[in-house]
Amino acid sequence: MTLNIFTSEVVNSLYIVSAVLFILTLGGLSNQESSTRGNIYGITAMAIAIVATFLGPRITNNYYLIILLIFFGGIIGLTLAKKVKMTDMPELVAILHSLVGLAAVLVGIVNYMNPTYNFSNTEMIIHNIEIYIGIFIGMVTFSGSVVAFGKLSGKISGNPLILPARHYLNLLMIVSIILLAYIFVSTDVVDTASNSLILMLVISFIFGIHLVASIGGADMPVVVSMLNSYSGWAASATGFMLSNDLLIVVGALVGSSGAILSYIMCKAMNRSFISVIAGGFGTESSKPSTNSSVQGDINSINTDEFKELILASKKIAIIPGYGMAVAQAQFVVNEIINILKNKKIDVIFVIHPVAGRMPGHMNVLLAEAQIPYDIVFEMDEVNDDFSNIDLSIVIGANDIVNPSALEDPNSPISGMPVIECWKGKNTVVLKRGMSTGYAGVENPLFYKENSLMLFGDAKESLTEVLSLNSN
Ligand code: TAP
Repeated sequence: MTLNIFTSEVVNSLYIVSAVLFILTLGGLSNQESSTRGNIYGITAMAIAIVATFLGPRITNNYYLIILLIFFGGIIGLTLAKKVKMTDMPELVAILHSLVGLAAVLVGIVNYMNPTYNFSNTEMIIHNIEIYIGIFIGMVTFSGSVVAFGKLSGKISGNPLILPARHYLNLLMIVSIILLAYIFVSTDVVDTASNSLILMLVISFIFGIHLVASIGGADMPVVVSMLNSYSGWAASATGFMLSNDLLIVVGALVGSSGAILSYIMCKAMNRSFISVIAGGFGTESSKPSTNSSVQGDINSINTDEFKELILASKKIAIIPGYGMAVAQAQFVVNEIINILKNKKIDVIFVIHPVAGRMPGHMNVLLAEAQIPYDIVFEMDEVNDDFSNIDLSIVIGANDIVNPSALEDPNSPISGMPVIECWKGKNTVVLKRGMSTGYAGVENPLFYKENSLMLFGDAKESLTEVLSLNSN
């Protein structure tokens, strides 16, 4: 039985519709207000792509197997998406990238072993190059993403692995991969070609592990979006191997948007793009975090005093960080800003591009709590304006408000732009204790004269502030 309802012309037309929808998806996802629409475009595009491929002329058998795999794949995806906590999202993304890489490797191997391909000389060379590149990118994406998953979930240490002569090691692996590519493409001996492919697989596997393992915790956000980009290129390479135009286009969209995002994040963290993607080449940024000794006294306050400070302020800046996501304090924050609005106190949110653990993490949290978009500002829009802010409330943030990024050239986060809240009148920091943030660096902000610490879980502290209001 075959289900070839669509001709290849119909399939190609549907692929074009799908590609356009994927482009609109990216446009939609670039803005909070249009992100729901963007998601709907993406879901529709994917559904069209699957239906067009399934009912097109290239699938002629194994329908039940495909339906079964779609069914189980769908169930697993749905369960994971429902179960995953927002704070664990980067790990999920990393492990899903690894699957895209693995798929590219498997498609490459199957393509190489497929006896029905009967190409002439030049076609054969192009076909083999596609296979080689597809397997290489796929394997680096696979092993790199598994290490990224391990680092993000805390299963592997976040410290960079610094092997002696690590850059030469990378160079040696790259040169070997290029040499093996030459052998693979030029030889007529099947055993030689197969052996060079297997050797390349092993080297790429180690290369991917080493590339990500040698990157320090502070640069991990860039790595995640870089792996996102690699997974796009891997999908694109798969598209070339399968002669599937839509996969080529979509892979290129993911690949280039991931690369652009990585570049933007590198700029936001004052990191060199090339050095981060080359495993920390030519930079000191990936050295292990050393805690500089920060001195001074801590001024702590209680919720009563915090409330008095809030009520005495005319303009308040709320700076959310990873701890707000952990505490799930965003809903209480929304209740508080509604009360403050009634009291004619001006409240804004200031968002750092790498706050939390994934791009746009804070924006997602604020959108979840239905905080109006017009009071949410980027770091750069507010940094020069802190002299007009009476009170900055730092909710579970640490690295993104660390002055040592600007003041201490030896700090592991040196050069990273940060939210300069200490330039305002007062800052209250809500956190549970004195532990460091993601980059493992001490924070001199906590010891500044105009900084006050409110210790405790952010949600509990803010709920107390709320209940004080009703008394
Ligand atoms: P962090 O520097 O990680 O600091 C979070 C702080 O929240 C911690 O110091 C912690 O202190 C506090 N905290 C945790 N649970 C809390 C709770 N229930 N209530 C109150 N406070 C709580 O976060 P950040 O300032 O948002 O900076 C983000 C960091 O992650 C950067 O270094 C960034 O490079 C990195 N990173 C970002 C991404 C992306 S793409 N956003 C991805 C990976 C890594 P206590 O334990 O003392 O409470």
